[in-house]
Amino acid sequence: MANDVRTIRIGLLGCGNVGGALVPLVERQAEAIVARTGLRLEITRVAVRNMSRDRGVTLADGVLTRDAMSVVTDPDIDLVVEVIGGIEPARELISTALRAGKPVVTGNKELLANVGTELFAIADEHGVDLLFEAAVAGGIPLIRPLRESLRGEPITRVMGILNGTTNFILTKMTEEGADYGVALAEAQELGYAERDPTADVEGFDAGAKAAIIASIAFGARVVAGDVYHEGISGITAGDIAVARRLGYVVKLLGIAERDPATGEIAVRVHPAMVPVQHPLASVRESYNAVFVEGDAVGSLMFYGRGAGGSPTASAVFGDVIDAAVNLSKGTHGALGSFARATIRAIDETSAEYLLSLDVADQPGVLHAVTGAFAEHGVSIRAAEQEGIGADARLVFITHQAREADLQATVRSLRDLDVVRRVGSLLRVIGS
Ligand code: HSE
Repeated sequence: MANDVRTIRIGLLGCGNVGGALVPLVERQAEAIVARTGLRLEITRVAVRNMSRDRGVTLADGVLTRDAMSVVTDPDIDLVVEVIGGIEPARELISTALRAGKPVVTGNKELLANVGTELFAIADEHGVDLLFEAAVAGGIPLIRPLRESLRGEPITRVMGILNGTTNFILTKMTEEGADYGVALAEAQELGYAERDPTADVEGFDAGAKAAIIASIAFGARVVAGDVYHEGISGITAGDIAVARRLGYVVKLLGIAERDPATGEIAVRVHPAMVPVQHPLASVRESYNAVFVEGDAVGSLMFYGRGAGGSPTASAVFGDVIDAAVNLSKGTHGALGSFARATIRAIDETSAEYLLSLDVADQPGVLHAVTGAFAEHGVSIRAAEQEGIGADARLVFITHQAREADLQATVRSLRDLDVVRRVGSLLRVIGS
């Protein structure tokens, strides 16, 4: 048996959180992988920006280099793992590796959400794998189930909590009544949120993941620029309290939908009110979850750690083993072609909405306010008044309404003298 073992030499680009967790994982599992696959996986070269940084991993002399391109072009490297992130130089490094017939495993969501189809085409042309389970929802197996297990399902909608930092912040606001700023500061202290938290809190990170999910679930070319996003920085503890009282939890959701009648695709990220009974409502702290709605299979939910070195390295490692096995057999798993996507503009999407208004507490106010809804054809499902006098607030939940009509209603409401402030607009999901 020992003579039959083939060694697959891995070039690792980046040795931060994920790369640093991958090195010991590959070492620890080496014998088990030999037993299962007949392949010995070895990380033989590692490219980093800073050679002197302590990464907590032991690497043999000569393994570490600053020259990432020399790793990719090294004839002694069989397979490349890219965990440096960003578009360049990752794009050039990956396309060079693929053109040289080397399979690539990446966790780079930004790259795939912008130029993924270009790279998939290069991989296909050169008959090698480009695998990316780690790019969406970290350690949670999602891409492979969508690509393989659910291949026969016409998927209509995928909704997910795709960002752990914002889920942590919203959990603190919900369970402890914390203000947004306090919850963000705690997320920063714990290392979840960056010092500049924009990518997480304004929905860019979740948007890139939602674009990749939409591409794979619907077989269409969806890029980050196609995704509408709103973040959580405008959500107040008051919004969350109103939602809770009505039986909802506020979550930042990435939603990819395909209209089976027209084939139009809508992809968006925004805070949403999820009924407390919905499985996504129980996803707390920094966990991620993705809820997939198919046809024959019904609904599925994938749950786990969406970030962090070790869970993300686990997803990378699974792909590395897959790519190594395919390489040894001279095969690869093709993604197939991606159709051009017809994107439905946010204005044309519809949802139920919650809208709260601070108003004057006097006769005729309700009449004036409901008139604004009626003027734009938005039907009210439920309404209530909280507080009296100077603290009077009206809370409305609408029936399904077009986004454009709802926005026109908000504009009309802002023009009314009796409306002191139009509060957050929250979409109601999954009821
Ligand atoms: N910052 C992301 C999150 C992880 O909080 O989930 C990387 O995509």
